[in-house]
Amino acid sequence: MSNVLVAYTTQSGSTEEVAQAIADELSKAGLSVETRRLEEVATIEPYAAVVIGAPMIVGWHRAAMKFVKRHQAALSRRPVAYFLTAMRLTLTGQQTAQDVPLAIDPALAMPPRNPDRLGLKERYASPAHYAGDALDAAPMVRPVSVAIFGGRLDLYKLKLLPMLFVMAIIQAQPGDRRNWPFIRAWAAGLPDSFRAHPGWTAV
Ligand SMILES: Cc1cc2nc3c(=O)[nH]c(=O)nc-3n(C[C@H](O)[C@H](O)[C@H](O)COP(=O)(O)O)c2cc1C
Repeated sequence: MSNVLVAYTTQSGSTEEVAQAIADELSKAGLSVETRRLEEVATIEPYAAVVIGAPMIVGWHRAAMKFVKRHQAALSRRPVAYFLTAMRLTLTGQQTAQDVPLAIDPALAMPPRNPDRLGLKERYASPAHYAGDALDAAPMVRPVSVAIFGGRLDLYKLKLLPMLFVMAIIQAQPGDRRNWPFIRAWAAGLPDSFRAHPGWTAV
């Protein structure tokens, strides 16, 4: 049995449920899994592999950026996967960002108005930009995959400024966009990618 950590942060709870579904799939594959909020994780040394997830909140959630930066050296020595939850994503056809494989929820990604010339908001919501945020935070860490999943948005629970940002920039429709079969299929594929990584050690 190998210990895998699924570490996440959330603002409104939906990313936590995604983290739990991922942990469930990893357990089904025979791995021993711990699910923790990022704030609860002091060290990642005991874990053979780490999955890190957080919502896009004007960039990848700050707690996730800090976490990957702080644990960068240890993360760079073992298999790691990132996942992001988001409400708007531009369909660009990219399969990788900085040579890291992307897993893009096809139900979330929307084709741009003009594929030859993305608008500002379309570029903002592109996989390269979202994944780039996460990858640039800890350049030594090369995840086996960066997944971008649909999240959940309840506009009426937001304060005025966040609500205005989401309405004006993200232009997201409120609702639950989580695509459970896609999320679970991604998680089910992780054990093989972890085992193929040179830093994998069964503990
Ligand atoms: C202030 C704020 C900023 C957000 N920024 C983005 C964003 O830049 N891109 C995006 O696609 N979604 C954005 N979202 C939507 C969230 O990523 C989405 O609702 C996510 O599922 C929330 O996860 P949580 O329920 O775990 O907090 C934003 C939401 C809020 C409230």
